[in-house]
Amino acid sequence: MSDDGVNHTRRRLIGLTAGMGAVGGAFVAWPFLASWVPSARAKAAGAPVEINISKLEPGQMLSVEWRGQPAWILNRTPEMLDKLPGMVDLIVDPDSLESIQPDYAKNKTRSIKEQYLVLIGICTHLGCVPLTKLKPGLAEGMEADWRGGFFCPCHGSKFDLAGRVYKNVPAPTNLVVPPYHFATDTLIVVGVDPSMSIHGAEGAKNMNKKMKENLSGSKG
Ligand code: FES
Repeated sequence: MSDDGVNHTRRRLIGLTAGMGAVGGAFVAWPFLASWVPSARAKAAGAPVEINISKLEPGQMLSVEWRGQPAWILNRTPEMLDKLPGMVDLIVDPDSLESIQPDYAKNKTRSIKEQYLVLIGICTHLGCVPLTKLKPGLAEGMEADWRGGFFCPCHGSKFDLAGRVYKNVPAPTNLVVPPYHFATDTLIVVGVDPSMSIHGAEGAKNMNKKMKENLSGSKG
């Protein structure tokens, strides 16, 4: 139990479970997850996590564990994306200038492909796991003017559908976007930047460069 009376470890575990539950009744997550969960040793070392999103329907979200933290992937609908520009006046850092994300996610949707939002599901206030409240208003037990996003029950921080923090709540910055890339259209790898990927042309170039460096080093 922490000083502020919140058991963060427990909240994180609850959050991981709750994130899975948010996927929705028709989407059976656990069998799907079993194919990519890395070994305990790999997880301890902070190994990248591959997530097959081929069955993640628009409006659905899944949560995986990366480096002991929940990493969220939300498949945003066009309606969800349409709400983002109208949030600007409600948000502390709408352009993510003071928040943590890779450069390739420092944009209006905080993502590589605007449809898919990838976040670390840890509140930037004191580290609780926010609740997923994707639907607007009363449908999620929120105020009538709620536009969908994430709500941290520990001290009341609210985040929009790009993980951007509302004004007048304790969390200081937007939810963190981890390094990630698309290995294919349906495979996201969390934990590796696109430039470091072994997938794709840029990754192949990097790998070739490294191999040449190694070879020239071994000759010397
Ligand atoms: S941990 Fe305090 S509002 Fe989230």
